[in-house]
Amino acid sequence: MYAGWNLLLVVAVLCGQSVAFFWRFNSFTGVVSTNTPELEGSLDANKRVAIIGAGASGSSTAYYLQQFAERSGIPINITVFERSSYVGGRSTTVNAYGNPLERVELGASIFVDVNTILKNSSTKFGLRAKESGTESHEVLSIWDGEKFVFTQKDSDWKYWDIAKMFWKYGLVPLRTQRLMQSTVSKFRKLYEAPAFPFKSLSDRALDLDLTSVTSLTGEQYLKNNNIGPPFSTDIIQASTRVNYGQNLNTIHGLEAMVCMAIDGAMAIDGGNWQIFDGMLKASNATVHLNNTVSSISDHKGRYSVRTTSNDAITGVSSTKDSVFDTIVLAAPLQYSGIEIEEGLLKHTPDEIPYVTLHVTLFTSSRRLDRGFFNLPPDADIPTSIITTLQPDQVPSNYTEGCGKPGFFSISTLRTVINPETLEKENLYKIFSPHALTSEFLGDILGIPIPANLSSISPASGDAITWYYPHVWQSYPYELPRVTFEDSALARNFYYTSGMESFISTMETMALMGMNVAQLVVDEFNEVMEEEGLAEEVQKIMVEEITPDEL
Ligand SMILES: Cc1cc2nc3c(=O)[nH]c(=O)nc-3n(C[C@H](O)[C@H](O)[C@H](O)COP(=O)(O)OP(=O)(O)OC[C@H]3O[C@@H](n4cnc5c(N)ncnc54)[C@H](O)[C@@H]3O)c2cc1C
Ligand SMILES: *[C@@H]1O[C@H](CO)[C@@H](O)[C@H](O)[C@H]1NC(C)=O
Ligand SMILES: *[C@@H]1O[C@H](CO)[C@@H](O)[C@H](O)[C@H]1NC(C)=O
Ligand SMILES: *[C@@H]1O[C@H](CO)[C@@H](O)[C@H](O)[C@H]1NC(C)=O
Ligand SMILES: *[C@@H]1O[C@H](CO)[C@@H](O)[C@H](O)[C@H]1NC(C)=O
Ligand SMILES: *[C@@H]1O[C@H](CO)[C@@H](O)[C@H](O)[C@H]1NC(C)=O
Ligand SMILES: *[C@@H]1O[C@H](CO)[C@@H](O)[C@H](O)[C@H]1NC(C)=O
Repeated sequence: MYAGWNLLLVVAVLCGQSVAFFWRFNSFTGVVSTNTPELEGSLDANKRVAIIGAGASGSSTAYYLQQFAERSGIPINITVFERSSYVGGRSTTVNAYGNPLERVELGASIFVDVNTILKNSSTKFGLRAKESGTESHEVLSIWDGEKFVFTQKDSDWKYWDIAKMFWKYGLVPLRTQRLMQSTVSKFRKLYEAPAFPFKSLSDRALDLDLTSVTSLTGEQYLKNNNIGPPFSTDIIQASTRVNYGQNLNTIHGLEAMVCMAIDGAMAIDGGNWQIFDGMLKASNATVHLNNTVSSISDHKGRYSVRTTSNDAITGVSSTKDSVFDTIVLAAPLQYSGIEIEEGLLKHTPDEIPYVTLHVTLFTSSRRLDRGFFNLPPDADIPTSIITTLQPDQVPSNYTEGCGKPGFFSISTLRTVINPETLEKENLYKIFSPHALTSEFLGDILGIPIPANLSSISPASGDAITWYYPHVWQSYPYELPRVTFEDSALARNFYYTSGMESFISTMETMALMGMNVAQLVVDEFNEVMEEEGLAEEVQKIMVEEITPDEL
């Protein structure tokens, strides 16, 4: 009798752990309702995982999940749903003049040497990385809306030449580099045990002494470390603006440091998205492009996922429900349009402000106009212009941070061949907080541009021969904070985008994917252990309690 009660207590505790477990326990004993037609996947013996989003974080989740599950001997079936027609998310290319041989990055364009997930996997997939570095024709200048505050020859902003800066800024650049290195080495601990894997990024950030960096603005953090103007406002702020569209008085210290971590900057020839494509292929996941997840609800302790897709030929849209053990939401919830059944999540991620960034690509045979930038006729024409504020300029709030320059950056990427005229032209990229006007484009090129920008074509004989504008919700406003959304939102329900308000880069999102993959496998292992235990408990109950009760 005594032993019996103890066993019942054990069972009660085990069952009480969660409703999901209770369901599993029931289906285990055969108590399962089978009146309704079964949804796709509900009878699959493999663990079924749905990943929503085929960007850096979703692709990386699939890649590592396959590896970690195999290592643990867990049979798994991974399905990736992606609402757009391509893999890569915010890492994607478009074709200059519509020519597939002239791909150009529309979103994330560079990663760096310490980004080992991206580096290792690009090597593994045989992708060629172009190193950014010193090119003799490069002229980088920093513009404050009236004048250039700094000019560096023979390299672009991905390759700050600290030695050359000594003459203007003394030892401050070197001090900044040291601070950056010590911050990055703290961050690197997240890749390995005991910091890896992590359910709570807030806890880990605190453990690794990074909360003290994210809790301050870049300006405060730099000041505390004896780094100030003009180096901070000229160089560091120009970097936070070109990378994140934010000034030092709003972006947090950690993101400001990330902007200075540019050693060994590189990009994959033909597009960084190929890394994520390689990850998905290696994972053997079933990838459904053009499939929008519209809702997620409970299905007997598992999850039912509703997706909508349009038939590419007939245009007819169809809706489908399928059942999964685990969900990984690998996209910002606030832009996903997914309706999640009430009560399903322990906590719903907060909506946070994202930067609205206009990226404009265009081609022209013209170079930038010296006149517009107040340069004398014999001055070198900058190939990259990044911007900062004038010392006395204080934007009214963080969304108005661009200030007097009106743009964050203008880059001359490379020369390309106009398919109509077969002439060499320059390929430009501009980052700005608002759509560009033909007046502005005319001003920077020093020649009138047609008012109707959609009428531009390679054969039109205009000064702009190809024009491609795009608007992104590119990354969060990285305002100082000390807590971050958890990786786990409910039992068997994971989320990657909490990482974005800590650091938003392809690498950190891929790291979050690797982290979530480990958590998913750990949870499967725990559940299997519990089930094994419950089975034993039940056997003992049948053998021992029954005679006693009789
Ligand atoms: C202009 C720009 C420049 C940048 N520059 C750099 C850089 O140089 N270096 C760098 O490292 N990072 C850069 N970044 C940041 C980097 O792009 C992001 O941090 C990273 O790519 C985010 O990856 P993710 O997988 O988390 O999200 P995303 O790439 O946004 O992927 C999420 C995916 O989910 C899909 N999705 C959303 N909702 C649904 C739904 N309901 N159903 C199905 N699918 C859905 C979306 O279509 C998308 O493909 C830049 C970003 C931008 C926009
Ligand atoms: C994975 O699940 C799908 C159903 O969603 C099924 O068609 C497929 O055969 C499964 N794959 C494996 C390897 O079990
Ligand atoms: C996705 O949709 C686009 C546009 O409708 C279409 O061109 C493409 O072929 C579709 N891709 C897939 C895999 O269905
Ligand atoms: C990358 O490769 C190096 C060398 O093989 C290895 O030591 C490191 O653990 C790898 N890192 C990741 C994140 O895969
Ligand atoms: C992926 O699938 C292919 C073909 O079915 C198979 O040969 C390969 O071993 C699989 N890879 C992994 C990592 O499971
Ligand atoms: C910032 O200021 C602009 C114009 O002054 C206003 O439209 C916008 O709503 C403000 N944004 C925030 C976040 O306060
Ligand atoms: C701009 O040009 C496009 C393409 O030639 C045309 O379809 C559109 O009507 C024009 N818009 C205006 C306002 O003239």
